[in-house]
Amino acid sequence: MGLTKQYLRYVASAVFGVIGSQKANISYVTLRGGERGRYVAVAACEHVFIWDVRKGEKVLILQGQKHEVTFICPSPDGVHVAVGYEDGAVRIFSLLNGETNVSFNGHKSAVSIIQYDALGARLVTGSKDTDVIVWDVINESGLYRLKGHKDVVTQALFLKDKNLLVTCSKDSFVKWWDLDTQHCFKTLVGHRSEVWGMALLNRENRLLTGSADSELRAWDIRYLEQVTEGEPKVKKGKTLLDEDEDEDKQEEEDESLEDRILSCKKAGSILREARDRVVSLRTDTKNRIVACHGNDSVLELFTVLSEEEVQKKMTKKLKKAKKKAAKSQEETGEEAAEPVVEKMLKDEIIRLMNIKASAKIRWVDCLSCAGGELKVALLLQNNTVETYSLKTLDKTPTANKTARLTLGGHRTDVRTLAFSSDNLAVLSASGDTVKVWNRSTLQVIRTMACEYALCSLFVPGDRQIILGTKSGKLQIFELASGSLLETVDAHDGALWSLCLAPDQRAIVSGSADKTVKFWDFELIKDKESGQKRLTVKHTRTLQLEEDVLCVKFSPDHRLLAVSLLDCTVKVFYTDTLKFFLSLYGHKLPVLCLDISHDSTLIATGSADRNVKIWGLDFGDCHRSMFAHDDSVMFLQFVPKTHLFFTAGKDRKIKQWDADKFEHIQTLEGHHREVWCLAISPNGDHLVSSSHDKSLRLWERTREPIILEEEREMEREAEFEESMAKGDVPVVSSAFRFGLQTFQLNVVTESPSPQPSRYVLDVIKKVRSSELEVSLLVLPFPYIPELLQLFSSYIQQGLEVELVCRCLFFLLKIHFGQISSNQMLLSVIDELRTNTLSKVREIRDVMGFNSAALQFLQREIESKEDVMFFADATGKLEEKKKKRRKRERAILTIA
Ligand SMILES: *[C@@H]1O[C@H](CO)[C@@H](O)[C@H](O)[C@H]1NC(C)=O
Ligand SMILES: *[C@@H]1O[C@H](CO)[C@@H](O)[C@H](O)[C@H]1NC(C)=O
Ligand SMILES: *[C@@H]1O[C@H](CO)[C@@H](O)[C@H](O)[C@H]1NC(C)=O
Ligand SMILES: *[C@@H]1O[C@H](CO)[C@@H](O)[C@H](O)[C@H]1NC(C)=O
Repeated sequence: MGLTKQYLRYVASAVFGVIGSQKANISYVTLRGGERGRYVAVAACEHVFIWDVRKGEKVLILQGQKHEVTFICPSPDGVHVAVGYEDGAVRIFSLLNGETNVSFNGHKSAVSIIQYDALGARLVTGSKDTDVIVWDVINESGLYRLKGHKDVVTQALFLKDKNLLVTCSKDSFVKWWDLDTQHCFKTLVGHRSEVWGMALLNRENRLLTGSADSELRAWDIRYLEQVTEGEPKVKKGKTLLDEDEDEDKQEEEDESLEDRILSCKKAGSILREARDRVVSLRTDTKNRIVACHGNDSVLELFTVLSEEEVQKKMTKKLKKAKKKAAKSQEETGEEAAEPVVEKMLKDEIIRLMNIKASAKIRWVDCLSCAGGELKVALLLQNNTVETYSLKTLDKTPTANKTARLTLGGHRTDVRTLAFSSDNLAVLSASGDTVKVWNRSTLQVIRTMACEYALCSLFVPGDRQIILGTKSGKLQIFELASGSLLETVDAHDGALWSLCLAPDQRAIVSGSADKTVKFWDFELIKDKESGQKRLTVKHTRTLQLEEDVLCVKFSPDHRLLAVSLLDCTVKVFYTDTLKFFLSLYGHKLPVLCLDISHDSTLIATGSADRNVKIWGLDFGDCHRSMFAHDDSVMFLQFVPKTHLFFTAGKDRKIKQWDADKFEHIQTLEGHHREVWCLAISPNGDHLVSSSHDKSLRLWERTREPIILEEEREMEREAEFEESMAKGDVPVVSSAFRFGLQTFQLNVVTESPSPQPSRYVLDVIKKVRSSELEVSLLVLPFPYIPELLQLFSSYIQQGLEVELVCRCLFFLLKIHFGQISSNQMLLSVIDELRTNTLSKVREIRDVMGFNSAALQFLQREIESKEDVMFFADATGKLEEKKKKRRKRERAILTIA
């Protein structure tokens, strides 16, 4: 016993490289009384970043926990921000200090929309779980849960003066809710597909909805409350007949009781230029501008004129028409009809202009400022934020790009990472750029354009870096000048892997063109500048039968390990390039491998999800471990140890002990597949990159890990997760449902036996293999009632075997609680007598039947002179015996 080896915990230290995550919207915020339109809030995985767009700097981080941010909404006074998360939680942060002390938990899945009311006293949230919840911000409590939608809620808006709420959803409906009575009094059914966005315009007399087509539908809202209260007969000549209600309920233009509050009729539509669905639809703070875009890079802007403005315009038009009529009357001498000018929707909502962004738009927010200036912030689909400014009062406004946030992240996924030898700089390279970061400040030191990079390393001395690209090139960059020194055509296929030679004088590259090439570093005189610069000289080539996925020198420089597409890893002598060993065993290609510092162990990670640890002396597999729930993408030993890290497509990073074959810890945080990681030469830091666009820095602490505790915690987390997801408890909620109806029945003293049978039916439906698990998650408060039910089932002889199985399991796991509960005494007693007698009964029946069958068998056999089952079973026994003997023989030989 005793502590033989101490493992130290690694913890998350920072998230960087992400400018804006796609899941949540972008929103203008005000910060410390700063100028309007200078700060935007965007999600960065589980955090919210507040960017100063003018300076391009991150000024505040609203720290999240585990789940991704899905919606951001600032309060009307600009002091707070409500943030919704993937798991349904909503937290309110103060923008003064970035802290949170209010959280609302009511949704079961991602929050899809959050809106404050005009005073900032209430909050409405909509979710993927289809519920709408109204919260009291002041008292920090939930007010009502509004159920009715059948799909994700896409927008929810409070009305200013009335206690009403309007919501829309992917289920194609727009619903009006009366918050006094908390019920939906009106459903608009005019959309044939999802409603993706909605805005209230013109003092809430106009509703605009965006759907899956290019039509923005406009609706006339008329508030009738006051009228009907005062003079009930004023209803456009129609009486409120009761029979109307049912008939017209589903129709758009119904004139039923519901219309006592308001009527909402389709008034027309505006056509967007985009053909696809509305991705987001926003208005500015004054509801004067509507901004809308589809899944492309064009933002369409519309101006909304007020009723007075429309009226003015109409009068003008009428005058003009009259003049024209008078003129034509003069000319022809004929009496013309009185001219009529009809008010059209396009006189009210006018196309302003389009803004073309530099990539597909994901979210938009706009802000109207003094002097008719409109500020627009766009979160683009390539990890970029752009802001524009335009003067809405100009005849032909032009939008000027005012800022662009691109520096702090890559446009595409980072596929390779490297640490400098002094542990201070981190390199990350993606499909088009390579960046070097200061590890302590996480500021970008250099950004350079490159080809699609797959692998990288710092040249010893940390002054240059080398990338291997998808097109088979080696690109050498100088960090001081931030320039590309040279591009070498190294291979004819993707250059998957690079490794520095232990003597630090050469590198080796492996490629999909089935070759491994050796390169020496050299200094040559540059033709143009006349100065010396680094280059690489090709020295040797190792030709292979298959694509090369990974290459690695052993630290003693004796061997070179090469992973091939045929699932094997071949080991060669570095000096002669002679074949030494083949590591055979993975079922899918080895995507990553590493050799321990003492050149004794080689660890391989494969697309088959396993990690294997091999001795490098004989190539024997020491252990195969199931490592990740998806491909193992990256593997590296912690320098000077036999511990190593793996990264998986299952979003996890894990640490392992290659001597004891132990899983030490799991680093969770990434929300998508992890592509790669890099460990600093001193082992204190780890950096990882993922498809979620984030780079994460992890650091080693002094805290020791106790493996048993770690496993225990993991089990708990797993269980909680499955509880949250509802994997197992679907069954238990069905149980509960059954019990509740049963209770109800008891209370109302209904004689119907149905509900009690319902519980039995539910139990019967549970798959036999899952029965115990389902019972395990059932909370104890249900057990007494369940025991009572069991007792009655057994008494009635219903499914005695199944019930006994459940009963014995429950008794076993809840033994302590049951035996200490006086109230259960009578039930248990009853169960004991009932169960014993029933089981005895069944056993007797079984015994009788069995005896009867044996009797019949004997009868037939004696009659027909044949042997039935006895014969066959006997022969089988003999065969088995023979086989067993043979097996033993083999064993002794082996
Ligand atoms: C936009 O289109 C792409 C591909 O056509 C799709 O993968 C993506 O999910 C779409 N985005 C949205 C927000 O609909
Ligand atoms: C992505 O973002 C960059 C920088 O903002 C931009 O130059 C580029 O054109 C964008 N679009 C695509 C499709 O990569
Ligand atoms: C946009 O830029 C043009 C020319 O640089 C300038 O004249 C105009 O005032 C700018 N517009 C805004 C809204 O800043
Ligand atoms: C990183 O930033 C720190 C603090 O500003 C500075 O002292 C250090 O020199 C920087 N390191 C690099 C590699 O630029």
